Amino acid sequence: MAAGAGGLTAAGVIALPHGSPEGSGKAPAHLRGAAPLPYAQFISLDIPLGSERADAVRAAHQAITAIDGGDIAAWLALGEGALPSRTVRPRHVRKMPSFTGDLLNPAQSHGDLLLHITGSSARAVRQAAKRALRALPQQQVRWRADGTRPENRTEDGRGLSRNPFHFTEGHGNPATAAEITERATIRAGQGEPSWAIGGSYEVIRIIRLATDFWDRDTLDEQERITGRRRNGRWLDGTASTERAVFATDPHGKITPLDAHVRRAAPNPRTPPPMVRRSYNYHRAPDDQGLIFSCFQSDLEKGFEAVQRRLQGEAMAKYTLTTGGGYFFVPPPGEAWLSALTES
Ligand code: HEM
Repeated sequence: MAAGAGGLTAAGVIALPHGSPEGSGKAPAHLRGAAPLPYAQFISLDIPLGSERADAVRAAHQAITAIDGGDIAAWLALGEGALPSRTVRPRHVRKMPSFTGDLLNPAQSHGDLLLHITGSSARAVRQAAKRALRALPQQQVRWRADGTRPENRTEDGRGLSRNPFHFTEGHGNPATAAEITERATIRAGQGEPSWAIGGSYEVIRIIRLATDFWDRDTLDEQERITGRRRNGRWLDGTASTERAVFATDPHGKITPLDAHVRRAAPNPRTPPPMVRRSYNYHRAPDDQGLIFSCFQSDLEKGFEAVQRRLQGEAMAKYTLTTGGGYFFVPPPGEAWLSALTES
C-alpha cells in the first residue's frame, strides 16, 4: 500500500494528486491529496471477545490494503481495544471522553477498529466497503456512517468543501504537503514508541447540526457566529487565503470573541496543529450534520486543546455531538504489526 516510514520525511511525498502513480503508491492514504476524495464510509468494528486481537488487526490491515489504490483511498485506524495492554501504546490512545454538551450514543461511538474508506464515487466506496467486510466475517460492525464533500475542490493548495451550514470548510488547513505532514504525523522525539513514528491520531465526531434553526438566522448572524464569510473571507475583509489579526479587534467588534474561528484559533498566525478532513452526512431531515474528522501528531495539543476552547462558542446551540471516537492510524508499511505481537 505505501512506502516505509522513511518516505514520510521527504516534503512533497504526502499530498500528491489522486490518481498519479506516486500519489497512489507512496502517500499514506489518510493524507493523500490536498482535498480528500468526495465520498466516504466510516465503518467501526468490534473484535469479538475471545478472538486473538493481533490476528483480527492483521486481517483488517490486509482487507484494507486490498481495496486501497486507484479511485479509492482507504486506511485502517485502531481503537484502544485493538492494542493489547502488553503493547507499548502510543501515549494518547484512549477512549474518546464525553465533552461538555455531548450526548454520545454508544451505538454510534468508539470501536476497536475503524475502516475509513474514501473514493471518487459513492458506488466505488460501497463496493470497496463490501469487499473489505466480506474479508472480515468475524468482525462485528458497531456503527457506520456515510459522508460526502459537496463542491469538493482544491484552492491555493487547500482542500475545500461546503458544510451543511452552507459555509466553505478547509481554509484554516495547511496548504503544503510539508505542513500537512508536520501537523498530522508523529515524529521521533515526541516520546512515542518507535513503532508509532509516522502514524497519526485520528478523531471522528458525528455532529448533528440544527440546519432548520440555522437557516432561520440572517446571513450576517451566521457569519458572525462562524467568524468568516460564507466564502471564507474574514469579517475584517482579509482574503480567505490570508490570516486575519484579531489583536486589532480586542473587544470582538468585528469578529465576536465567541465566533467559531476565533475560539478555534485565537491567534490565526499560529494555527492549531491539526489537519481537518470532514464530510457531511444526511440520514434524515432532522439528522444531518458533519462527520468531523481530523488528524494530528499530538492529540492534546491538536483536537483536545481546540475542543476545550470551543466550549461556550456561539455555534454550540446549533450542534450536538452524538458519536465518533479516538483512533490511531498506524504508520505506512507493516513493521508496526509486529509491535502488537512481540511486546
Ligand atoms: C460543529 C460543527 C462545525 C462546523 C459547522 C465548523 C465550521 C467551520 C468553518 C466554516 C470554519 C472556517 C473555514 C475553515 O477554516 O475551515 C472552521 C474552522 C475551523 N474549525 Fe470548525 N467547524 C465545526 C466543528 C469543529 C470542531 C469540532 C473543531 C475542533 C475541535 C473545529 C476546529 C476548527 C479549526 C481548527 C478551524 C480553523 C481555524 C483557523 O485556523 O483559522 N471545528 N470551522
